[in-house]
Amino acid sequence: MSFPDQRPSESSSTLPPAAPHARPLTIEFPESLPVSGKREEIMAAITKHQVVIVCGETGSGKTTQLPKIALALGRGKCNAKPGKDGKVRGQLIGHTQPRRIAASSVAKRIAEELNTPLGDVVGFKVRFQDRLSRDASVKLMTDGILLAETQTDPLLKAYDTIIIDEAHERSLNIDFLLGYIRQILPRRPDLKVIVTSATIDADRFARHFESAKGPAPIIYVSGRTFPVEQRYRPFEETRDYGLNEAIADGVDELWQGNAAGDILVFLPGEPAQAPVAPAGDAQCRGIAAVCAAQSGRAGPHL
Ligand SMILES: Nc1ncnc2c1ncn2[C@@H]1O[C@H](COP(=O)(O)OP(=O)(O)OP(=O)(O)O)[C@@H](O)[C@H]1O
Ligand SMILES: [Mg+2]
Repeated sequence: MSFPDQRPSESSSTLPPAAPHARPLTIEFPESLPVSGKREEIMAAITKHQVVIVCGETGSGKTTQLPKIALALGRGKCNAKPGKDGKVRGQLIGHTQPRRIAASSVAKRIAEELNTPLGDVVGFKVRFQDRLSRDASVKLMTDGILLAETQTDPLLKAYDTIIIDEAHERSLNIDFLLGYIRQILPRRPDLKVIVTSATIDADRFARHFESAKGPAPIIYVSGRTFPVEQRYRPFEETRDYGLNEAIADGVDELWQGNAAGDILVFLPGEPAQAPVAPAGDAQCRGIAAVCAAQSGRAGPHL
């Protein structure tokens, strides 16, 4: 599946002079993503507060853009500023994911967006696999890995920033981490924490991380909206006309005039799904049949 609206109209912010050990890194934010549009507000909140909750709809860019925002703020190694003694001591931006597969695929995606080889600036560590150079700045990992690291690095000194992604999933690991991180915050005043959450839980996280300044700030990011046009196409019951033909006719109608794009077909259940995809393939390319949720196994069938 392609994401055609990703790359056009990108704005770039070149980082301040890089540390001696690092290459200059240009960070581009796809303007089509709502999180990119709010990056100034997010940066200001991170600068002012130790913990920030970012709450955004799916696909708004939380996972892919927040580590880049942290990098643009000078966090992580490649853009670390020299300390009072003139030495550059960069730490890592730790970025947790609930699942291993997400940790590796998100690392690949962010590395790609930064035009850097995987493991160089952005890498990942999951059980049995480690793709992270010594100078890496962003480390994707499962929340279980970060929790395990608290055994050997109780104050999580390897990190200057921790992003707890998908916190609303509230797994045991995430809950332990959120509780643990709250405990160490007073002893790590330099540590910044970003928690991403679905809307429903944001207030609870904000209260959990309440400080003398009040609850942690929540930044709400809207989803991406697309124009929706409704057309009605009656099902012709009078003639011998099956579901496949009706779908094929609908697809033909949609594609008139060489319209570009993909088509998603929602069907009432898995039995209806099986014969449709081959029939669709015969008629056209790029048709995805998706079972309705009640089948319990919704998923694209290309
Ligand atoms: N591996 C990828 N290949 C192509 N495009 C991608 C990839 N990963 C993300 N994108 C694009 O980046 C956009 C933002 O994705 P991102 O994962 O950052 O959103 P999100 O806010 O974290 O969503 P969610 O709430 O579902 O986790 C997606 O809408 C998609 O267009
Ligand atoms: Mg995400």
